[in-house]
Amino acid sequence: MEVIIACRVISMGEDIVLQIRKSGITSGRAKVYKLDNSSLESVREFSKQIKVDYDKIHILVNNAGIMFPTICKKTEDGYEEQWMVNYLSHFLLTSLLLPLLKTGGHPEECSRIINVTSCAHDVGTINFEYVNNFYKEIVCKHNSYAQSKLAQTMSTITLQKFFKDKSLNILVYAVHPGIVKTDLFKETILGWNKWIMVGWKTADQGATPITYAAISKDIERKGGIYISNCKEMAVPSLALEKTTQEQLFELSLKQTHLENFFQYL
Ligand SMILES: NC(=O)c1ccc[n+]([C@@H]2O[C@H](COP(=O)([O-])OP(=O)(O)OC[C@H]3O[C@@H](n4cnc5c(N)ncnc54)[C@H](OP(=O)(O)O)[C@@H]3O)[C@@H](O)[C@H]2O)c1
Repeated sequence: MEVIIACRVISMGEDIVLQIRKSGITSGRAKVYKLDNSSLESVREFSKQIKVDYDKIHILVNNAGIMFPTICKKTEDGYEEQWMVNYLSHFLLTSLLLPLLKTGGHPEECSRIINVTSCAHDVGTINFEYVNNFYKEIVCKHNSYAQSKLAQTMSTITLQKFFKDKSLNILVYAVHPGIVKTDLFKETILGWNKWIMVGWKTADQGATPITYAAISKDIERKGGIYISNCKEMAVPSLALEKTTQEQLFELSLKQTHLENFFQYL
């Protein structure tokens, strides 16, 4: 495999590649690119470079995420940070990379998009007024995280329907990695107490359902599903509401300044 590592700090990505090599993995190739999911401009720049360097992609993992930042801030594009990093930037990135995903997919082996969501989508609602008019620090950080994850799950379902209608050989999955001991919790009360994390999944264990969604033959042709613990699970009923799905899709196009999700195909 050739792996594209997209991250904010190139040197950190390169360190990871070195660590993987030191662990004994000598096969495959990895290349590091800069991508800051809190900026639409950065998403566009990253995609532009990828399109110069590659003509196809087989697997796109939309993994970047933040949870409960200490300061609830507005990004340079004017959106609430969790909404932007966890959901909106992935929506734009997916649209921009569609031509490469289309080329990478075949009827017998589709290309795949993995949206790393969370079981927190169960408690999420989409507050359109809030995501459209976010203007100041507010106290609903927890709702914002759940909301961004519900949007990822909902968008997984919507996009799969469109891909099917357009006969594109692309599958989309929403995946919950489990409760995993990672830096995600560093700014939360849970991250301050290591004892609470005893028994949680390790990062490797958390990566397993993501890898499963990326390569397992069991789920070939079963896109648009939500996976937890490498099993298909029910999505929250809100994620299936057609009007909300349509409203979310339209708002996402508007916020990412796309005229049409398929305009780059
Ligand atoms: N851990 C859990 O229990 C759990 C549960 C459910 C869902 N998830 C989801 O799993 C995904 C991965 O989280 P994790 O647990 O592995 O947490 P993590 O260790 O904090 O990893 C989050 C990753 O997102 C990157 N990131 C954050 N902001 C970014 C930005 N503006 N631009 C580019 N990259 C950015 C981080 O990069 P840096 O290294 O540069 O900070 C980091 O690599 C997230 O979507 C999270 O919501 C995690």
